[in-house]
Amino acid sequence: MGFCTTDERKPLKLEELVRWLESEWMSTRVDQNLRTLWVPNACTHDTAVSKFDPLFPLANDYHFAGFELLACPVAPRITHYDDEGRFTDQTGAFLFRFVQKHGDKTVEVPVLSAHHSNESWEMLAVAAVPADFMAAWTDFTTECVRLSSARTPTDRVVIIGGHSSSFVPTTQWDEVVLPPKLKAEILEDVSAFFRKGVEVYRRLNLKPFRKLLLAGVPGTGKTMLCSALARWALDQNYLVIYVSSAKKRQNDPYGSTFDKIDYALAVAARSQYPTLILLEELDAYLHEEEKALILNVLDGSESAMNENGTLLVSTTNYPEAIDERIMKRPGRLDRIFIIPETRERSDAEKMLRQYLGGMWREEHAALVPQLVGYPGAFIREVAVCALTQLAYVEGEQLPLELLERSYKSLKEQIDARDDFLTRKGGIGFSVPEKAESNGSNGHH
Ligand SMILES: Nc1ncnc2c1ncn2[C@@H]1O[C@H](COP(=O)(O)OP(=O)(O)OP(=O)(O)O)[C@@H](O)[C@H]1O
Ligand SMILES: [Mg+2]
Repeated sequence: MGFCTTDERKPLKLEELVRWLESEWMSTRVDQNLRTLWVPNACTHDTAVSKFDPLFPLANDYHFAGFELLACPVAPRITHYDDEGRFTDQTGAFLFRFVQKHGDKTVEVPVLSAHHSNESWEMLAVAAVPADFMAAWTDFTTECVRLSSARTPTDRVVIIGGHSSSFVPTTQWDEVVLPPKLKAEILEDVSAFFRKGVEVYRRLNLKPFRKLLLAGVPGTGKTMLCSALARWALDQNYLVIYVSSAKKRQNDPYGSTFDKIDYALAVAARSQYPTLILLEELDAYLHEEEKALILNVLDGSESAMNENGTLLVSTTNYPEAIDERIMKRPGRLDRIFIIPETRERSDAEKMLRQYLGGMWREEHAALVPQLVGYPGAFIREVAVCALTQLAYVEGEQLPLELLERSYKSLKEQIDARDDFLTRKGGIGFSVPEKAESNGSNGHH
């Protein structure tokens, strides 16, 4: 009849592992009341098995006393590594040893880990654990899970949900040109939270979790600010986590975009270091299915908390998308900073000088008044565009006239785009309002 008998069906990997445990291990230890458990993959994570602290106390006075490898043909040992060459997950057969402090009792637990199947890289792990060892075993696996995702501060930003696992931020605080009062307030808010706030929250019996939002039209330096804050926080030896874009990628191990935020908070909590989490484009996370989950995350009520303080800095250039439930409800966002376009000639000049570098000449200052009201990204673009033009003609010095031409052509592009969006009505994200909203003498 075309049905497979049990013998013809290819056994699941899980069944192969369990059969091996039963025939090679459990059959000779029937007195131990062993249970076959499906255990977290973290149990065989390289960090967990090689860095587990032998002094870490497990229930009933047990301690982890190391491991040896078992020869097991159904669980070959394969080690994964990240893009910095650190060993991460591994498959294979391990024999973990635990000793009781005073009783001199030793418990051995075989743990087998393998990839699901030919089609899947996902891993699974099983163990044979004596029933009366469960309390200590549970403590052990919980700590393995923590260790496998805990991070210690380094000179790099940890990325969650991106293509690579970390990056080095290079933006210096001084490079960000903003009204000095605003800049000082942002840095003061961030540093005061870690210096004093965490302790205050704790005394008040609140979770030390602070949430800031940087809001502003595109190109005003929000991403740059995040990068400079990351640099600053790494210099303080804090942990810095960057949650990559809200879009779910193919093969993304995270089930949803919300999971990335949740995971970032868990890494912060498990790591137990002061942690800065950068979450760009908060608005993109607030689509209908996940909104309620995100609201809970912002409340901080669901997640495990980092005793040493977690500061979430999020950005948006579309604050209209962040509705009243977030903006106006106390506690969900502690503070919103509006990041404006340039307002002062001095700031516009500083940026132009910064982006022209050695090519700056005093005569270029004549263009500065026209740059006021534009975001930093525009001013940078004017400079870069003029410099490339100059490079094409192999010029040595940048004439003011070339800089002005570059300005005019970029301004025309922007005006044409704004005009198009305005005429299209509701489609643009309220482009016409943005120059008015900050009182600048912008380009409208
Ligand atoms: N305030 C600023 N000071 C100095 N440079 C700036 C500033 N704003 C923007 N720039 C320049 O423009 C580039 C782009 O800015 P950035 O990506 O930080 O803008 P953004 O606010 O994050 O924009 P978006 O809302 O589109 O994400 C920066 O890398 C920097 O070179
Ligand atoms: Mg940005």
